[in-house]
Amino acid sequence: MRNVLAQVSQYALRHNLQQVRKMAPGSKIIAMVKANAYGHGLSKVAKTIQDADALGVASLEEALRIRQAGVQSDIVLMEGIFREEELADVKHHHLTMVVHHWFQIQALQSYAEKNDFRFRIWIKINTGMNRLGFQAQEFDEAYATLSKLSHVEIIGFMTHFAEADEREKDSTRKQADYFQSIIAGKPGQRCLANSAAILAWPQTHADWVRPGLMLYGASPFVGVTGKELNLLPAMTLRSEIIAIRELALGERVGYGGTWENPRPISKIGIIAIGYGDGYPWHAKNGTPVLVNGQRVMTTGRVSMDMLAVDLSSLKEVKVGDPVTLWGDTLPIEEVAHHAGTIPYELFCRFTERVKVEIIS
Ligand SMILES: Cc1ncc(COP(=O)(O)O)c(C=O)c1O
Repeated sequence: MRNVLAQVSQYALRHNLQQVRKMAPGSKIIAMVKANAYGHGLSKVAKTIQDADALGVASLEEALRIRQAGVQSDIVLMEGIFREEELADVKHHHLTMVVHHWFQIQALQSYAEKNDFRFRIWIKINTGMNRLGFQAQEFDEAYATLSKLSHVEIIGFMTHFAEADEREKDSTRKQADYFQSIIAGKPGQRCLANSAAILAWPQTHADWVRPGLMLYGASPFVGVTGKELNLLPAMTLRSEIIAIRELALGERVGYGGTWENPRPISKIGIIAIGYGDGYPWHAKNGTPVLVNGQRVMTTGRVSMDMLAVDLSSLKEVKVGDPVTLWGDTLPIEEVAHHAGTIPYELFCRFTERVKVEIIS
């Protein structure tokens, strides 16, 4: 059996949630579990961290998977409904939703009230991300319209930062000030901060925070690892050596022969993982990999099912030896850097071939 395994540590997930609580002690937490819990496995992660104050997802489908797993926590649909018909499920499964657009307000207006159920909503405000949310000039009308609906309960207001990971820039503070000025005088709770803001902008913590990446133990800042932020990497991606070969001087490896052996002889190991599993094709020659816990480097292009590493520095190595692609002892931030991407994307790339296993 081909053994590509993403092992997810419950201990690390709980530790990271605890770190959020320490860093934002006065705030409630919407733990972001969208996109299959950033690739870590939605149902199991949701169960592990269900004592967060709420769980954040991108769609009704994700919310229903959590409910089917038996998790009763508050679930927030971060983009709200996509179609009016979804309101029936929102009600049935007691979901909370973001309202970011007039069509969602219209859907709520036309929803026939049949009992005393109240839709719990967060109003999203655009303060500079220019993705979702009401503009400052439409906010008052949106708020007034929603306030009049007796089957709607406005929990509060949300906005999202565009550059919270850039500590030296002023834009996060400006977005936060703008947000406060737009909602001034309106009763309701405030929710602004993602992981980067939780870590770098304590003044934005407010009533609720919305951590994603840091729950999984990775860092939102370039050049900083999760461990340096007192987080524990939740995922270790594992595979094994499936072939070893010796190359003479000048022999090349893989498609396009982009790595050429510079020594009289080199030992090359072939690992069972490739872009068909979600390992990034863009990982350059020299991307770090651990074989038997020791650091080696990739050689040549990543294939669909395999990649090659230079094992010449290892004395004893054989087929079947364990490989770590990222995790506890090899920061995903480093691999992302070599692949010209971000940890978020690496987490979310897995294909169905990768077995995700949760361990205590
Ligand atoms: C609206 C919103 N809030 C919070 C988050 C969590 O962000 P992070 O993973 O950087 O903590 C995201 C993630 O993309 C998001 O879209």
